[in-house]
Amino acid sequence: MNGYGCLAAYYDRLMTDFDYKGYLELLGRELSGSEGVDLCCGSGRITVALAKSGKKMTGVDLSGEMLGEAAKNARAAGVKPLFVQSDATSFRPQHDVDFITCVCDGVNYIKPKNLAVFFENAACFLKKGGKLVFDISSEYKIKKVIADNVFFEDYDDLTYLWSNIPFSGGVKMELTFFIRGKDGKYTKQTEEHTQYAHTQSAIECALKDKFSFKAYDFATMSNVNQKTVRIIWVCERL
Ligand SMILES: C[S@@+](CC[C@H](N)C(=O)[O-])C[C@H]1O[C@@H](n2cnc3c(N)ncnc32)[C@H](O)[C@@H]1O
Repeated sequence: MNGYGCLAAYYDRLMTDFDYKGYLELLGRELSGSEGVDLCCGSGRITVALAKSGKKMTGVDLSGEMLGEAAKNARAAGVKPLFVQSDATSFRPQHDVDFITCVCDGVNYIKPKNLAVFFENAACFLKKGGKLVFDISSEYKIKKVIADNVFFEDYDDLTYLWSNIPFSGGVKMELTFFIRGKDGKYTKQTEEHTQYAHTQSAIECALKDKFSFKAYDFATMSNVNQKTVRIIWVCERL
């Protein structure tokens, strides 16, 4: 299976180390206007939270399974964002919006040859002066922290292995799930993801002319350094 099929049902449970609260605080400071698009929205953590804060939201993702989880999360929260299954490099809403978000590695899934297309497309439906906020796992994190490493979680009903095989431009992630059934027997499921290690200069090159931008170390919200693991970009449509 290719990317975000089996993982979808466990995604929220496994994402315990991502600082959604801090991210939402930052978005609260940076975003203005009433309507936004959350690209690569996944299970909709950000889409739903922004909808709850009163924004009119559209969440966009390639994975039907992740969108299914997003719809459940929205129902549970009592909000009704629009969810659309689409490639983020070509999605267009019916009219221009006030802000765009792409949270937690969405841009790492965009192939280097499509990076400029991704930002050009976003620029096409973002109002002048509107903000685009996104983050990436840094080249340092992909090449030095996760490459050649295996991570795991072990619960009563689920054992999860995540191995990372590096290649020149990023990392191939092999995810293996052992899921315990009601009869106590385990079923094995696997899926693969590819994340690309975009350099800061490649991102800057893809953003220039359309956006002004500033990159921060997400952990400290200060300047990016050689060991920054997550870089957050706050951009403004020119
Ligand atoms: C790590 S998840 C992040 C989900 C969510 N933004 C969050 O913060 O939890 C990355 C998501 O990007 C989606 N994705 C990857 N490539 C995509 C593309 N080209 N277009 C739309 N969604 C994509 C995946 O399906 C997955 O749901």
